Amino acid sequence: MAVVDSAWSPSSWRGFPALHQPAWPDGGRLESARERLRSMPPLVFAGEARALRAALAEVCAGRAFVLQAGDCAESFHDFTAITIREKLKILLQMAAVLTYGATLPVVKIGRIAGQFAKPRSSPTERVGELELLSFLGHMVNGEEPSAEARVPDPERMVQGYYQSAATLNLLRAFTKGGFADMLRVHEWNQAFVASSLEGRRYEQLATEIERALRFMAACGIDLASARELHEVDVWTSHEGLLLDYEEPLTRRDSLTGDWYDCSAHMLWIGERTRGPEGAHAEFFAGVHNPVGVKVGPAATGEELLELCERLNPGRIPGRLTLIARLGAERVGELLPPLLRPVREAGHPVVWISDPMHANQVRTASGVKTRHFDAIMAEIEGFFSACWQEGVWPGGVHLEYTGEDVTECVGGSEAVLEEQLSHRYETLCDPRLNARQSVDVAFRVAELMRQRDAFPALPPPE
Ligand code: PEP
Ligand code: CO
Repeated sequence: MAVVDSAWSPSSWRGFPALHQPAWPDGGRLESARERLRSMPPLVFAGEARALRAALAEVCAGRAFVLQAGDCAESFHDFTAITIREKLKILLQMAAVLTYGATLPVVKIGRIAGQFAKPRSSPTERVGELELLSFLGHMVNGEEPSAEARVPDPERMVQGYYQSAATLNLLRAFTKGGFADMLRVHEWNQAFVASSLEGRRYEQLATEIERALRFMAACGIDLASARELHEVDVWTSHEGLLLDYEEPLTRRDSLTGDWYDCSAHMLWIGERTRGPEGAHAEFFAGVHNPVGVKVGPAATGEELLELCERLNPGRIPGRLTLIARLGAERVGELLPPLLRPVREAGHPVVWISDPMHANQVRTASGVKTRHFDAIMAEIEGFFSACWQEGVWPGGVHLEYTGEDVTECVGGSEAVLEEQLSHRYETLCDPRLNARQSVDVAFRVAELMRQRDAFPALPPPE
């Protein structure tokens, strides 16, 4: 990668405006937490981040698809082997539907093992009579509605590190230890999903996959020795919001001498902190992980080009992913003028669609929700804008849970507005439930199949 400004260091972001950082009340306590994080082992290795970058380069070249998905905010309370396993099951189900349905390799990236810090539109919120600091994610403060709970506590970053380590450990065990074996494709279908429309559709697809595997075996292909059938790569990612956490986990790779943020394989910069002159752009310009940037309705082509130059001056395919979150109603109008200049400048970016964050609404009774139809409409708008502009629609970025929650309305077996209170458990934004997630995967696979109807996409320069 091209040499970044020689003044770059893991702490050089401090010389730039850092938005959405907590006002830690106790400097000594902060320094102590940072010091301990600096001495902890890395959560991921540089070589893994490079392998993900190579996988994303395949997406860049129009030969693969990204499924990036997970919680809006992970929780310190809801932390068990079961919740991790259920989340993984749905991710594997969605990936199987996409891989088989669209006949493309799927790069699987969780919003997991570090997704604990949230930017909020307002620093304070009113709860009843109280004016409280906003909840900023479990790595910063507690969500309970009291002044004490909302005080930012840097010790939470250390706890977040340990929870991420334990989560990652289990993910590695599940994905490499047999659970993710393609021969177990039926077992990922949970009972409450299996009984639904999407679940039955999934059962059918799983049976087809099994038959295809038996067919290959009958042809004499040795399935037992094909590692790809028995293990999967599930990469980790989170918003790299909290620079006091990311900085101490940034390490120099002994092999290449390059810096990597070893808190996750991929990090993204949020919509609220993506200014090209800001601290986040500075920090992520210097680490060599694959990075993402959320792109909201106010973004301009010029700004994106500036970010491309800042974050990927060496134009390395797979280094930079742009995550469009423009809203179902405006994606058709706003996306083409963003796709065009980046394509014309020859920047090799992966474009993916986040259909969640610009489609949030409140019900008449004030509950935050998202409509399944609006989510699908944004994905469809994203696909058609990409096809029209000759840009590869590289993937989707979703917020989901493996549970049977009622947070988003609609879907094939619709969650109704009056049902939202049945199981509304999110710490932050409303997530697709397990059935709705599988439903989205089937519909996206169908959209991907349309690619044959469009002229060959120009290869990236
Ligand atoms: C998020 O991904 O949870 C988020 C806050 O997104 P955005 O930066 O796009 O608003
Ligand atoms: Co969110």
